[in-house]
Amino acid sequence: MQNLDQIALEAAAAFAATDDPDALEQVKARFLGKNGRITEQLKGMAKLPPEERKSVGATINQAKEAIEAALNARREAIRRLALERRLGEEYLDVTLPGRRESRGGLHPVTRTLERIEALFGSIGFEVADGPEIESDFQNFTALNTPEDHPARSMHDTFYLLDENGQVAEDILLRTHTSPIQVRYMQAHVAKYAHLETMPEIRIIAPGRVYRVDSDATHSPMFHQVEGLWIGENVNFADLKGVVADFLRRFFESDDLQVRFRPSFFPFTEPSAEIDVAFISGPLKGRWLEIAGCGMVHPNVLRHVGIDPEKYIGFAFGMGPDRLTMLRYGVNDLRLFFDGDLRFLRQFI
Ligand code: PHE
Repeated sequence: MQNLDQIALEAAAAFAATDDPDALEQVKARFLGKNGRITEQLKGMAKLPPEERKSVGATINQAKEAIEAALNARREAIRRLALERRLGEEYLDVTLPGRRESRGGLHPVTRTLERIEALFGSIGFEVADGPEIESDFQNFTALNTPEDHPARSMHDTFYLLDENGQVAEDILLRTHTSPIQVRYMQAHVAKYAHLETMPEIRIIAPGRVYRVDSDATHSPMFHQVEGLWIGENVNFADLKGVVADFLRRFFESDDLQVRFRPSFFPFTEPSAEIDVAFISGPLKGRWLEIAGCGMVHPNVLRHVGIDPEKYIGFAFGMGPDRLTMLRYGVNDLRLFFDGDLRFLRQFI
């Protein structure tokens, strides 16, 4: 007969060397299965003289119980190990912040445009729109800038090609938003042709414009917002009041000086450049040019069929990109159009 203690020790060592339930069951079969070593011992008892059977049987059973106890202990240990492994893997940190939907936001220039629309809307200005591909007439001629007029060279124009690949001199990317005013005035005149006196025109015209120009403060695509107020009795003082009031509200500051500096535009007369200076803050004391303006030239009114003897008004055109740079302290215009989220996210 084999040493039963030896068999029990071997079984315990074999159990300890397994760490998954299936392998453990196979090891169990080697000792307690049909042909297992303990079962073999029990079978061997048949050959023993009857008087020995009782004590030998008791010894074998003891060994069997010891092996079963070791097996159960190992089963339990493996179960616990598996549980610990799972807890480790599926660790849940309830203190982590939740996963949010990522949030989009409006482009800073869009915010400025919306702000401008809201501020002018509050004093009765409607928003007008127009195409970015314009005719030479709407962009220049109607605005008192005929061909060969030296003022055309102030705008470095993108012309489009016709179907033969030739430059189509009469189709271009609008260089300013003033053609929106031309279109609006033409439509207004047609709409109220039956009235002796047409209602006032009070609009702002925001949009993208294009010029061949590119550096830290110029982009080939940029934005303008143009304003127009035409009535029977609109004067330069109204222009100054509207613009100065707008700027104070836009920058949320009364600490602001506004200056009208004589200038030239073909479509206004007299014309002025509008400068602002902040009385406090990082830009304190520097005059910054932010808009052009003037009383609408009689030739422009004539071009759209408005009688300049009866109606008069002012127009201004400003750069919302520039206003956005000033409002948020951005020093390079190109940042707005690079599409870099690290920059844009700051405005969400
Ligand atoms: N359209 C002019 C420009 O882009 C700006 C302007 C508009 C000036 C209206 C005066 C009046 O240069």
